[in-house]
Amino acid sequence: MKNILVVGSAGQIGSELVLDLRKHYGGDRVVAGIRKTKPSEKLLETGPCEVVDALDVKALTEVVDKYKIDVIINMAAILSGTGEKNPMLAWDVNMNGLINILELARERKMKQVLVPSSIAVFGPTTPIENTPQETILKPTTIYGVTKVAGELLGDYYVKKYGLDVRGLRYPGIISHETLPGGGTTDYAVAIYYEAIKQKKYTCFVNEGTRLPMMYMPDCLKATIDLMEADFDKLNYHCDYNVGAMDFTVGDMVESIRKHIPEFEISYEPDFRQAIADSWPNSVDDSAARKDWGWQPEYDLDAMTGDMLKAIGEKHKKGLI
Ligand code: SER
Repeated sequence: MKNILVVGSAGQIGSELVLDLRKHYGGDRVVAGIRKTKPSEKLLETGPCEVVDALDVKALTEVVDKYKIDVIINMAAILSGTGEKNPMLAWDVNMNGLINILELARERKMKQVLVPSSIAVFGPTTPIENTPQETILKPTTIYGVTKVAGELLGDYYVKKYGLDVRGLRYPGIISHETLPGGGTTDYAVAIYYEAIKQKKYTCFVNEGTRLPMMYMPDCLKATIDLMEADFDKLNYHCDYNVGAMDFTVGDMVESIRKHIPEFEISYEPDFRQAIADSWPNSVDDSAARKDWGWQPEYDLDAMTGDMLKAIGEKHKKGLI
């Protein structure tokens, strides 16, 4: 049996991952670590919630010992957009938070640490189409710099201390439960909300911007599948490419118009255009497919149908 702590449980991925993990492993075995926001009713009702800040080692250690935590998932991060506005904060949260968790996991001889990475590890000199697993990692954002360093640090703990550290390079994650915050790929979520609320959206990257993306159910599956994979079968540790779909903003508009024909779009690219342009169009995830059987389920139209339905229901209830 594992006792899991998810650091960053109020975020876009953490908030849904906790609920999914509780279904898999039992509510009382998955602690939702939240730094300052109030936990959602769903998180409070389904298992323990604790105030956890990866930068506060004393408090983190107390929670780990209280619940006999032997698996930590670190979902706390400052993303690419916010990172460019405050590089020191991104470095502090993404690097010092991570090393605090790795050190605690090493000291307590934990079973596993999961540290997500991102397509932000790539940069303008990386091959842009079907980006290989092993390739040039020269990102131009502070977020990308911390993610490359995080991958290397995780791999170091595997080699040096025999700690089981794993991670995957998430593409842009699209979901309707908790809004993302401060990322470049946030437009791919906002477009659905605005399609329902206003029937129009002004996008901060241009029509032809193509990025790898993934729908939340696939993101949860990828995360739990990697956690469950046999360690001996892993040829990589903290840096698995995972793909699901890739599309331009124009493709999204076409997909939304199948449901909302009057949907209007305009473009006002800002500083995030350059970030998006420095990332791949698509990734080669054959290592993940081979080593731990990764297989995504959702394509653009299936996701669009689902997103519009869920957000439409929220809108009807007056929740957004
Ligand atoms: N979604 C992230 C961002 O846009 C990428 O990992 O910053």
